[in-house]
Amino acid sequence: MKLEHSTILICGGTSGIGYELAKVLRTRQNKVVLLGHHPGKLELARQEGFDTIACDLSCKESVEAAALQVEQKYPGVNVLFNNAGLQHNYDFSTHLIPLDKVWQEVGVNLSGQIRLTQLLIPILAASPRALVVNTTSGLGAFPKSDALVYSAAKAGMRNFTLGLRHSLKGTGIRVLEFMPPVTQTAMTQGRGGKMMPPELLVQKVIPQIEKGKGLVTLPKMRLFLWIAFLFPGIAYRIIEKKSAK
Ligand SMILES: NC(=O)c1ccc[n+]([C@@H]2O[C@H](COP(=O)([O-])OP(=O)(O)OC[C@H]3O[C@@H](n4cnc5c(N)ncnc54)[C@H](OP(=O)(O)O)[C@@H]3O)[C@@H](O)[C@H]2O)c1
Repeated sequence: MKLEHSTILICGGTSGIGYELAKVLRTRQNKVVLLGHHPGKLELARQEGFDTIACDLSCKESVEAAALQVEQKYPGVNVLFNNAGLQHNYDFSTHLIPLDKVWQEVGVNLSGQIRLTQLLIPILAASPRALVVNTTSGLGAFPKSDALVYSAAKAGMRNFTLGLRHSLKGTGIRVLEFMPPVTQTAMTQGRGGKMMPPELLVQKVIPQIEKGKGLVTLPKMRLFLWIAFLFPGIAYRIIEKKSAK
């Protein structure tokens, strides 16, 4: 499906990968609406001419209000990017993580976007061509020891994506998984090592999304998935080496 002449909602569209996607998709005759939480980033996006929806994905009422806003203001929405993400880093074995923090991480990365998707399915289904793209992570295939909740939530997102794809068979809604490599964004700020610029990533993934690839990613991530499946010990060393940088 060509990403043109569409109404596109991007969760986590106010920075990083989502914002790059938004900028490119706007140049292709799409109406692009950005959903985010940080008021300053939302204001900047509005100044750049984007429509925005303020929503805290970790809050049930906020997600429901956002879905209502979409229904009322953008009833033609036919593409949903579930791209919001939040990663807390801590040593799980030595720190008792406040439960609120765990819920927040699960809410943003997983349950908030599951709820939003479900509420938007009737709108998406009304379109002859609709698409849901869920952003996951290599950590959803193999966990990192200082990001256990994030890794677990992303593993959940991977499974949700697969299940949703099957349960929406027979509707006009396609469901894709997008697994970015380590990319230079606010989420990875301060980490060393080689990172992909978000502009380049977006350039590489849009054609894959348009081709409807079930897993949208780069060759090195496909290789990593095989390694994680066949040689978990090697996957562990790769992940921990990256996070040590
Ligand atoms: N960067 C990487 O290396 C990498 C690798 C694999 C996967 N990913 C995934 O790629 C996606 C984009 O991440 P990024 O790297 O571009 O990071 P980012 O720049 O930090 O963007 C994260 C986005 O999520 C939104 N978000 C965070 N908390 C939220 C909340 N409570 N409610 C609503 N929105 C919220 C942020 O909006 P506000 O700031 O307005 O709250 C922001 O737009 C995420 O799903 C991430 O897990 C990233």
